[in-house]
Amino acid sequence: MPPDLSTTFTGLRFPNPFLLSSAPPTESESNILRAFEAGWGGVVTKTIGLHPVVNVVGPKTKFLRADADSPHLSMKKRPAAALHSSWNWELISDKTLDWWVPRLGRIKKAFPQHILVASIMAGSGSDTELRHWQELATACQEQGCDALELNLSCPHMDRPDMGSNVGKDQQLVSIVTKSVKEVSTVPVWAKLTPSTTDIVVEARGAFLGGADAISSSNTFTSLPLIDPATLDFEVHVDGLVSTGGLGGPAILPLSLAKISQLTQAFPNKSFSGIGGISLFEHALNYFLLGCGTVQICTAAMLDHAVGPNVIRELTDGLERFLEAKGWRRIDDVVGVRRDRVVAQSKIRRPTEKEYRGGYEAEGYAEPTTV
Ligand SMILES: Cc1cc2nc3c(=O)[nH]c(=O)nc-3n(C[C@H](O)[C@H](O)[C@H](O)COP(=O)(O)O)c2cc1C
Repeated sequence: MPPDLSTTFTGLRFPNPFLLSSAPPTESESNILRAFEAGWGGVVTKTIGLHPVVNVVGPKTKFLRADADSPHLSMKKRPAAALHSSWNWELISDKTLDWWVPRLGRIKKAFPQHILVASIMAGSGSDTELRHWQELATACQEQGCDALELNLSCPHMDRPDMGSNVGKDQQLVSIVTKSVKEVSTVPVWAKLTPSTTDIVVEARGAFLGGADAISSSNTFTSLPLIDPATLDFEVHVDGLVSTGGLGGPAILPLSLAKISQLTQAFPNKSFSGIGGISLFEHALNYFLLGCGTVQICTAAMLDHAVGPNVIRELTDGLERFLEAKGWRRIDDVVGVRRDRVVAQSKIRRPTEKEYRGGYEAEGYAEPTTV
């Protein structure tokens, strides 16, 4: 029997565990329709808000590349450079809820078997703002959206009660999640920011508020590099820049560390892994650490805007992997390497000498005498 690529996550059946994450690949009806045609199991829409936003002048996303033969890193286009990361300071969708509503309904009718997740965001500083979350949630689920993803993680919102500023506050995370859960009839995923000291704290807030899953990671707070010739940031407007978000290959190991913390702290909960995925072997890390689905942005942006080759590679890779290992479904491997991540002190030492976690002098080299 051929392997079964489908999976069930937060009670929803996905044709495959690969989703486009909330970002430019999912910013329009035509993109999302093309994505489903290409074979993505699900998409998370570009984050929908109630009020229109206006982006900065000029590019909202740039790609940092590394030379093969030197440590040089730059966003300047040049031959034979490898992708290091994406950097963006794009805000949420510049289209309002009214624009999205009929489109969500049409998309769901055209692809009823594929999973459509609406990413939503509002403020959270007052009861009125919390009702905005509820308004967004209700409108999207009425159009047939299968789940809601709460954007508690955009790193470049100025308001202290929006985006990653909410995601840094366990109580706000809990309050927003609970408000949405009060009106939701579909699963609610909380997308958390990686830019906190201990993501387990905020995840606990989300689960206390009733979240059905955590999505992690959004982009990491970061700055573009300064060009040594001009002394300007490689992205700037009138010489000025603000912090934006890093995605792509550079964040794969960083995001895996966050996921490992989360899945160890909540082994029975659901997680959607995001960050630096372009090949099945990248996605496999997330599955083995305990994620039931994964999401992709940067790699898809660089592949005909919605990643037709990326999703082909992911599904082919999954099929090859299951066949080679003799497993039937991805669910058979979810979490099987979760418990291999342990404290330093649990790792074997080269000699019998006991390691005391760095509290005593053993393990350090003798000072050299000249
Ligand atoms: C240009 C751009 C826009 C994004 N917009 C959103 C957004 O509206 N909502 C959201 O939750 N995440 C947003 N993200 C974050 C991505 O969904 C994803 O979490 C992040 O890029 C890490 O995945 P990657 O390494 O595959 O790019 C955006 C990312 C980029 C590059």
